[in-house]
Amino acid sequence: MNGEKLPHFVERDADLGGRTTLALPGRAAFYAEIKSVEQLAQLAGKSALRRFVLGAGSNLVLTGDFDGLVLHMAIGGRELIGEDDDAWYVRGGAGEDWHAFVEWTLAKGCWPGLENLALIPGTVGAAPIQNIGAYGLELADRFQSLEACDMLTGRTVRLDRDACRFAYRDSVFKQQGWHLDARLVITRVTFRLPKAWQPLASYADLAAELDQRQLGRPNARQIADAVIAVRRRKLPDPASVPNAGSFFHNPLVEANVGERLAAAHPDLPSYLQADGRVKLAAGWLIERCGWKGRTLGQAGMYEKQALVLVNRGGATGAEVLALARAVQDAVRERFGVALTPEPVFL
Ligand code: EPU
Repeated sequence: MNGEKLPHFVERDADLGGRTTLALPGRAAFYAEIKSVEQLAQLAGKSALRRFVLGAGSNLVLTGDFDGLVLHMAIGGRELIGEDDDAWYVRGGAGEDWHAFVEWTLAKGCWPGLENLALIPGTVGAAPIQNIGAYGLELADRFQSLEACDMLTGRTVRLDRDACRFAYRDSVFKQQGWHLDARLVITRVTFRLPKAWQPLASYADLAAELDQRQLGRPNARQIADAVIAVRRRKLPDPASVPNAGSFFHNPLVEANVGERLAAAHPDLPSYLQADGRVKLAAGWLIERCGWKGRTLGQAGMYEKQALVLVNRGGATGAEVLALARAVQDAVRERFGVALTPEPVFL
């Protein structure tokens, strides 16, 4: 493809589809399994090749083949790196499975704090990029810092919470497009788990599950178990029904738009934000447009959660894009609200 001399650990023409949870077809011209920061440093510097960082492929839509170099993050390691009067500090390698990491914090030393984020597919390194969140907690709430390899210089840089500019499903990585051109590749993430732990149990689905289990003041393990049960009930397991989690963001609309919609649709779930805007439940909007459980080509919106797009078997990137557009058009026409896709498109 070009005259570049690539390290021996770079493979050519690798399957990508099987490495993503939505299982759309696609191949990478070059592919490297990254197990150490040294490997990244070897690949740093000027290169004509486009780069893309792959974790567990659980938030990725392949729209075709990729002619660049895919860096599959497999840097492992998890450790308690310190504690003070207020918190424990735990660190995970970018390639660690997210759920296994959460389970480890609960089992190993019982360092509570990440339990609401149990069973989210993906890796530790990918988690800060979209600021994963569920059941009333966001990664940003427990984040301390991360280390990343600057792919221009090969040097390690450290980003603290402010530098990451976290927002709803957003961070500086998405704002700057670093998740697309692999300018900074996350290698390790450190979490701050406060010792003054309080259960976060007010999210409707979670509260109902804990109620049913008659758990008035649950501990972190019990919250994790309840979260796992709710997720298993509502969200498809990618191993049997390929999907990439929520396919759209819950839209944030101005206060006057939120008021107008609430007046017309009193049962529309909406959540007032600190900045006065209103977050609407995209799953509800999609369901009301008749798309819950509906299929176009081989792609469909899941029957138990309309916000999740699923591959019903052999779907192509083009079919997924066509379905996404049809859903966006329906919601715009009916409610005047624009839906933005949540996963990364390659
Ligand atoms: N709803 C419907 N119909 C549906 C789906 C949802 O009416 O088909 C309603 C529900 O009844 C509820 C509201 O919409 O009143 C919210 O639904 P739910 O609690 O299932 O959460 P969500 O807003 O659809 C978000 C996250 C999920 C996360 C859950 C729980 C986004 C884009 N999605 O979904 O995250 O697990 O909250 O916190 O913010 C992901 O990002 O991939 C993901 C799964």
